Amino acid sequence: MWPDTQLTRALGVALPIVQGPMAGGVTTPQLVAAVANAGGLGSLGAGYMDAEAIRSAIREIRALTGRPFAVNVFVGEPRAEAASGVDKVNEAMHVYRRELGLEAPTQLKGVPLLDEQLHVVLEERVPILSFTFGVLSAAWLQRLHSAGCSVMGTATTVREAAALADAGVDLVVAQGAEAGGHRGTFLAPVDRSMIGLVALLPQIVDQVRVPVVAAGGIMDGRGIVAALALGAAGVQLGTAFLPCPESGAHPKHKDAVLSATDESTVLTRVFSGKPARGIANRFIAEMSRHDDAIPPYPIQHELTTDIRRAAAAAGRAELMSLWAGQAAGMSSSRPAGEVVTSLNAQVETLLRRLRG
Ligand SMILES: Cc1cc2nc3c(=O)[nH]c(=O)nc-3n(C[C@H](O)[C@H](O)[C@H](O)COP(=O)(O)O)c2cc1C
Repeated sequence: MWPDTQLTRALGVALPIVQGPMAGGVTTPQLVAAVANAGGLGSLGAGYMDAEAIRSAIREIRALTGRPFAVNVFVGEPRAEAASGVDKVNEAMHVYRRELGLEAPTQLKGVPLLDEQLHVVLEERVPILSFTFGVLSAAWLQRLHSAGCSVMGTATTVREAAALADAGVDLVVAQGAEAGGHRGTFLAPVDRSMIGLVALLPQIVDQVRVPVVAAGGIMDGRGIVAALALGAAGVQLGTAFLPCPESGAHPKHKDAVLSATDESTVLTRVFSGKPARGIANRFIAEMSRHDDAIPPYPIQHELTTDIRRAAAAAGRAELMSLWAGQAAGMSSSRPAGEVVTSLNAQVETLLRRLRG
């Protein structure tokens, strides 16, 4: 019974509430530690961080909490060749570069290497690794398990959940179509993998033996109780933690989330080349016209890096990626520890009421 579930037992946390990893600086060590200290599982979104940045964030988290926490990485396919459309897409983005006073990039910066990131996770004895965008290799799963690290993989379909369970992950995160940020999709085309959490969760629970964590659109005790009823061992919330004072999200991003409604978000590839859910803005509206030519991740991500950075520095929300889930309209800005404590209290009240 709540809060004692397969998740709390597997991961050694008091509450089956996971603060979702949010790469790009949102999940600061302060946010991760505040959630951990309140009894939840904080996750560092390390997908875009190089090895040394991950190491120093882990050490900062450890200075702030003695509780378990997770590090999250991207398990992608090898870098794709740039498609022929790159020049056209790059040209279409010159208008933003001109507005922001930028030159066209002469060289792409590249993305951090997974092996180097995982070596730090091992060396620093991180208790929990979560990943998205694919299946971690058998060799790494075995190495992490031998070091006592629990591993969580992200699925957006039943087939992906089965592939993760077969590979030997300890928990599966079921990412419903409602979720903010990138889709973890790696098997079927994304338009076939946009399955709402109410449909996805029980089908995954029926398919795999490992505990399942529900993600997507959960913002309060009602969402948590619904997920438990559908068979989840725990929940993962991203958008709900994004406006917290401890979050590193840009103030304009927090404002956009706090003023969003259920109609605010769209699925888009224009920022990174990978489909992700975010608040509609000018960049998405204009660049969607070139959708067919947009190169795959990480090429488009690298092409837009300078624009996103300069837009953030100038506070130009219309050119920034404002990732958020479909339930952003229910968000509020409170310290992360309070969010966790309040979620727990809401679940307890609701369960008492339902028992009658
Ligand atoms: C800004 C943002 C960034 C995200 N980055 C990651 C990430 O790096 N890795 C990952 O596995 N999930 C990522 N997600 C997904 C969250 O961890 C979480 O599963 C999701 O937000 C749950 O749906 P919700 O936003 O409706 O709560 C991100 C979500 C957001 C909103």
